[in-house]
Amino acid sequence: MQIDIISCVPALLESPFSHSILQRAQDKGIVQVQVHNLREYAVNKHRQVDDYAFGGGAGMVLMIEPIVRCIENLQSHRQYNEIIYMSPDGELLNQRMANQLSLQENIIILCGHYKGVDERVREHLVTREISIGDYVLSGGELAAAVLADSIIRLVPGVLSNETSALSDSFQDDLIAPPVYTRPAEFNGWSVPNVLLSGNQKLIDEWREEQSVARTHKRRPGLLAK
Ligand code: ADE
Repeated sequence: MQIDIISCVPALLESPFSHSILQRAQDKGIVQVQVHNLREYAVNKHRQVDDYAFGGGAGMVLMIEPIVRCIENLQSHRQYNEIIYMSPDGELLNQRMANQLSLQENIIILCGHYKGVDERVREHLVTREISIGDYVLSGGELAAAVLADSIIRLVPGVLSNETSALSDSFQDDLIAPPVYTRPAEFNGWSVPNVLLSGNQKLIDEWREEQSVARTHKRRPGLLAK
């Protein structure tokens, strides 16, 4: 899978893909993440990529030309299943969307900044708009990192058996059960006995009960689904 991220502040995306699971996914050659600096597609030698909004008002708007140039350059190398624009007014990201997107071959993620992008980009180029929550970030970069992380960990081969995404919260519309590690006793706080019992059937049943109980308590809306 190839994920191309377009940003005018690419430095914001350096670290998230350079460590841990996301770095290993790339080292294994399962996923390629490339961040493209919009300024390299700027309209002039001042590397300009934004301008004032027609009609006035505070804040700059990312121009259509650099975005089209960048997308056309990417499309000259491969076909894309989706061109996603990160926006607080997009569809709310959930595990089901991450699952769907993890099955795609190539996707572009476009990050807005300042007041956003020229609306014509959204009308004519973008195939999908995604929000990571009902709050406004300074730009789409952190949201793009969240989206890409949620997708990449689901691509087959990225996680090993021990860390399989199948046991994640939300994967079956349930919150994951609590986990513990050594020591079994700390400060008089002990680990539930069943987890030390060695009886896998009892442990699995306990985990299932805990998941359902937690979901009831914390996220009843998930069970209603
Ligand atoms: N850009 C700014 N805020 C955002 C959000 N909540 N989700 C996605 N992209 C954004």
